[in-house]
Amino acid sequence: MDERLEPVKRASEYIIEKIKTDKIDVGVILGTGLSGFAKSLNGQDFSYKSIPYFPQPTVQGHDGKLTYAIIADKKTLCFQGRLHYYEGYPIDKVVFPVRVMKELGVKTLVITNSAGSLNKDLKPGDIMILTDHINLMGVNPLVGKNIEEHGKKFVDMSEPYSKKLITLLKQSTPTPLKEGIYVGVSGPSFETPAEVRFFRAIGGSAVGMSTVPETIVANHCKIETVGLSCISNYASGLTVNRLSHEEVISIAKRTENDLVSVILNFLALI
Ligand code: HPA
Repeated sequence: MDERLEPVKRASEYIIEKIKTDKIDVGVILGTGLSGFAKSLNGQDFSYKSIPYFPQPTVQGHDGKLTYAIIADKKTLCFQGRLHYYEGYPIDKVVFPVRVMKELGVKTLVITNSAGSLNKDLKPGDIMILTDHINLMGVNPLVGKNIEEHGKKFVDMSEPYSKKLITLLKQSTPTPLKEGIYVGVSGPSFETPAEVRFFRAIGGSAVGMSTVPETIVANHCKIETVGLSCISNYASGLTVNRLSHEEVISIAKRTENDLVSVILNFLALI
């Protein structure tokens, strides 16, 4: 076995023992300011701190907790407290939860995030389904020796977000969701107006500091993935307002209820 899987397996075994089940069906990663989904479930909570080898998040708005619940007959594990590259973690720590999900047998992954809008049609408070992404993070989590047990080195990324699941996501809400392409950057500084013009020119719809590494590893592991962005602000240059992390959290909180119902309805359809 690849020695890098040792901590992943230890963490997975701990989780399995703790929730007394043999496998998990669905993983949900909750983004900045979006932990309300897990809180709404009345599930079994445990802290990342208690899980062997599990990296701890440091950013405000991220709790560092796992919640287990059965939703529409699916054994679901929610990860609140995402690990961001900008916190200084090596990229393999950022994707550790996805590798744990693979060991737990997860077949479907829902990734959420907060993102800045790159065009005026996408407003703060909107939810955007990710149809694709552009990796401008300057890093790829599959660099280095391949973890053969989890998948092939040269991963096909022609459908990073499952078309089949996107169809179901669209059926999960009476009000149509926006769709678009997520541009992943490392942060932590927000973009300059010139960078925002560049992201628009290359086809981006929204920009954020997460999701891309997790999606790449989920594709490596053949976990079917969907992504949802809560649009928390217009990206810089599109508005005269200055950007702040506090604003991102407060708008994300206002979108949370909509997001909760979309995910719950979606889990009933898959
Ligand atoms: N830029 C990058 N990441 C973000 C933004 C943004 O404007 N809003 C929320 N996450």
